[in-house]
Amino acid sequence: MARLSFVVFVSLISVVSTQFIPPYTEDCRADMYPPKGPTFKGRVTWYTVDLDLHPSKRWMPLITDKKAELVSMMQTIKDLANAFVPSGKLVEMVDKALPFLVETLPYPFGDELRGVAAASGLPLGEVVLFNIFYEVFTVCTSIVAEDPKGNLFHGRNLDFGLFMGWDMKNRSWIVAEQLKPLVVNVDFRRNNQTVFKSTTFAGYIGMLTGIKPNVFTLTMNERFSLDGGYIGILEWILGQRKGMWMSFLTRSVLENATSYEVAKTRLAQTELLAPAYFILGGNQTGQGCIITRSRLLSLDILEIDLKLGRWYVLETNYDHWKAPLFLDDRRTPGMTCMNKTTQTLTTYTTLMDVSTGNLESYIRDCPNPCMPW
Ligand SMILES: *[C@@H]1O[C@H](CO)[C@@H](O)[C@H](O)[C@H]1NC(C)=O
Ligand SMILES: *[C@@H]1O[C@H](CO)[C@@H](O)[C@H](O)[C@H]1NC(C)=O
Ligand SMILES: *[C@@H]1O[C@H](CO)[C@@H](O)[C@H](O)[C@H]1NC(C)=O
Ligand SMILES: *[C@@H]1O[C@H](CO)[C@@H](O)[C@H](O)[C@H]1NC(C)=O
Ligand SMILES: *[C@@H]1O[C@H](CO)[C@@H](O)[C@H](O)[C@H]1NC(C)=O
Repeated sequence: MARLSFVVFVSLISVVSTQFIPPYTEDCRADMYPPKGPTFKGRVTWYTVDLDLHPSKRWMPLITDKKAELVSMMQTIKDLANAFVPSGKLVEMVDKALPFLVETLPYPFGDELRGVAAASGLPLGEVVLFNIFYEVFTVCTSIVAEDPKGNLFHGRNLDFGLFMGWDMKNRSWIVAEQLKPLVVNVDFRRNNQTVFKSTTFAGYIGMLTGIKPNVFTLTMNERFSLDGGYIGILEWILGQRKGMWMSFLTRSVLENATSYEVAKTRLAQTELLAPAYFILGGNQTGQGCIITRSRLLSLDILEIDLKLGRWYVLETNYDHWKAPLFLDDRRTPGMTCMNKTTQTLTTYTTLMDVSTGNLESYIRDCPNPCMPW
């Protein structure tokens, strides 16, 4: 029987791309799992979100626990905003203008955001900002691979901080440092049973990463593209509200799709606010794909195809048929490493033996000098 494993490396990186002009010297490491050494910053704590509770109540225990960290992180973001616009007008605008958006969101998202605001004591507008913020600032690598026995595994790296304030002196991204204590694993339950599990950030209600045990794994990567970007979000604010927020679709699919095929169809066909990549892994041989999305439709679906020798699919933040931005080529090193390891002997084989059917995540650090991918 096919087994399904999933590992999430939430590496809140500290690197500024212009300092690392290719070619880099790097090696493919085969002994990186489970993570240890200087990049290993600890395991992530588990929480439960009970979907049988009213949306405004279900995040209460988690947020109550992480309140101090959440408030501190928002303060950092506000300090940054005030550094850009010293009058304090930007923060004032967020507090005044964003709360109305909550009324426009579909069930259960509006009520959940209200619940996060109530439990943390943060103004609703700031909670909304925090939830939009991730749609904008993530950079990731995702891989789905199949071993010779037909076992599928899904790995992801979630990198933050690429566009945030860079502290030259101590080489740590200010916001990234603040995000680390917010990383949590969440077990979403209904009728006292796991529906799906996710690694996410306290206060963030959309999903970027998740597993529906024994059914599918899903990650979302940003797709920077001219055909959407923030236009969809602007349109939403201005009243034209057709598309779905990307991480809300991911959340909704994890919560309610019952199979790999159903998930694939919804991810490929639901109209979105902005372009995205969805990386989906299933529970049987051949089920692994990258869905490249424009706002309106699926542009391309690249699937695992053993007959063609394609035993893995890998996605960073560029269309797989185009060259990545030369400053940010995480794909070539990733593929070089996957090609070198061959299908039989990957780091993920080790991973699978350890974590069958589980979601494991590790917070990593990137010590100086840092080459995070
Ligand atoms: C790095 O800079 C941040 C923001 O200025 C500061 O809060 C933090 O303590 C510094 N870290 C170290 C290790 O010096
Ligand atoms: C939920 O399951 C746990 C153990 O899996 C059990 O201890 C608990 O009583 C259950 N709660 C309800 C409400 O059924
Ligand atoms: C999943 O489906 C249930 C039942 O139709 C619905 O109440 C819930 O809002 C859906 N979840 C999401 C995140 O859309
Ligand atoms: C794979 O998923 C399908 C659809 O949900 C399910 O019917 C089947 O039992 C699953 N197979 C395994 C091996 O878990
Ligand atoms: C990896 O292997 C694939 C399939 O054989 C090939 O298309 C690709 O160019 C290789 N990539 C690298 C970076 O070696």
